[in-house]
Parts: sequence; C-alpha cells; structure tokens
Amino acid sequence: MANKIVDVQNPILRQKAKEVKSIDKKVLALISEMQETLIVQKDPEGVGLAAPQIGRSLRIFVVDYKNLKRVIINPEVLEITEPKKESGKPKKSKKGKEILEGCLSLPHYYGPIKRADKIKISYMNEKGEKQVEEFSGFNAQIIQHEIDHLNGILFVDKILEQKAPLYKFSGDEWEEVDLI
Ligand code: CO
Repeated sequence: MANKIVDVQNPILRQKAKEVKSIDKKVLALISEMQETLIVQKDPEGVGLAAPQIGRSLRIFVVDYKNLKRVIINPEVLEITEPKKESGKPKKSKKGKEILEGCLSLPHYYGPIKRADKIKISYMNEKGEKQVEEFSGFNAQIIQHEIDHLNGILFVDKILEQKAPLYKFSGDEWEEVDLI
C-alpha cells in the first residue's frame, strides 16, 4: 500500500533515524510500502525515498532510478570525496558538479547542490546480506541525499550552506524563491 509522504514541517524529518536491529516482517512490510509509495510519485517523480519521509524513523531508504534499484539498510559511509569549495578562479574539477536537486518532502522546489562525485558505502539489503558498493555521478548524489534524510538533513540545508539559489517549478515556469 502506498503511504503518504510527510510534510516538510514534520519533526520526524529532523531526527536521526534509528538503526534497524533485525529485518523482520514489520521491516519488510515497511520496505514494500516505501517502494510502492515511491513508484506512485508522478508529479514530481521520485528516485529515492527514506523511511522518515513516510513517518518511520529507521535507517532505511529505497532507490529506483534507471538501473539503480536498491534497498539500503543501515548504511555506513566508507569513503567520500567532499566537493571542493570554489575560490578564486574556477578550476576544472570533476569533483562537486552541480546538478539540480529536489525532494519528495518538498515537491516542486529545486536547487543546484554540490555533492561528492563518488561515495562508497556498506549496507544491508532486504535479505540481510552485507554489501559494499561505490556509487558515482547522479547515483552518488541520490545516495548522499537519502543518507542525509537518515541524519535529519534536508537538501535545503545544503542550499543555505552553499548559498545556492532555490527555484520553484510551478505550471511550466521556474521562479527563484527565497528560502526563509
Ligand atoms: Co528527499
């Protein structure tokens, strides 16, 4: 059954989500709810959904983007290349490319966020198997966005931090908006 996505004002989105102790029936039911909730999102479409977004403060997220379909439980970051801060002359760097980012908890808002181009994590899949995997490019961006959700961080925090603009897409127009 698809679930409702909690509003951006909901304090659960600001909590550090709890570790999953065992992958029992309840957890498996939650995972299928998350997958179903993600798949019915059409306006906008979503590529990932974290448990706190449907009101459960647990360290689980699902990803469904092209060939990247994952259930990620208790992720740990093993390696991450932080994007370099821009200073002085723009350098040609592959790290920290800006791609417009949005969130199902804050639909129709987007902003360019610098993220690491690569991230290596360990996690458990829904069968309880331990995985180690490296993601790059847009996939790495999705993983970082979802891990942030498990730590109570929203993409708009990054917008503020990086002093990036925020845009609202309404009808078929983009409009720059203030965050506060
Ligand atoms: Co999100």
